[in-house]
Amino acid sequence: MLDTTALNQQRNFFEGQAAIWLFGYGSLIWKADFTYLERRPAYIHHWERRFWQGSHDHRGTPEAPGRVATLIRSPGAVCHGMAYRITPEVLAPLDVREKNGYLREKVTLTFVDEKGSEPEQSEGLIYLASDDNPAFLGEAPLADIAQQIANAHGPSGPNKEYLLNLATALRELDAKDAHIFALEQHLSRL
Ligand code: SIN
Repeated sequence: MLDTTALNQQRNFFEGQAAIWLFGYGSLIWKADFTYLERRPAYIHHWERRFWQGSHDHRGTPEAPGRVATLIRSPGAVCHGMAYRITPEVLAPLDVREKNGYLREKVTLTFVDEKGSEPEQSEGLIYLASDDNPAFLGEAPLADIAQQIANAHGPSGPNKEYLLNLATALRELDAKDAHIFALEQHLSRL
């Protein structure tokens, strides 16, 4: 099975830094099972969230993969999520968690602050599953994606739990995401 762990260990964009910002846009928003120094709602520009990545290891199986979140480039778009300030050793278990096609990438993130204050930015990391990774499933009608999510289960639990937890977390962040909320609607009709 696909395993990006070793590749990610070469991707040291913040070598020598005592702490780095990790931006979560999928399960990393609602499942922070790692130690962090601080967390702050944040967003990144020119990316949109999509349930286009296959999950053969967490929310599905090799025979019946589930679908989980990745990002696609979208000029002018904004993707909301949660930024965590972590020490570099925290990345080792995250590389294992994200091994099914995700690679560490460097991004600029903007923190959500009090209205009216100057937006604060930082460089950070995301785990990105790009469209050339072998577990990428790509676009499909929303009804079909919702049906696949409704049916899939994996070692981390039912695939629908991932989607519903993400939709709830985004509402808590006051974040709009038409793709996620439409999928949630489709799922509720099944
Ligand atoms: C992320 O949450 O930022 C990466 C994708 C995932 O684990 O769902």
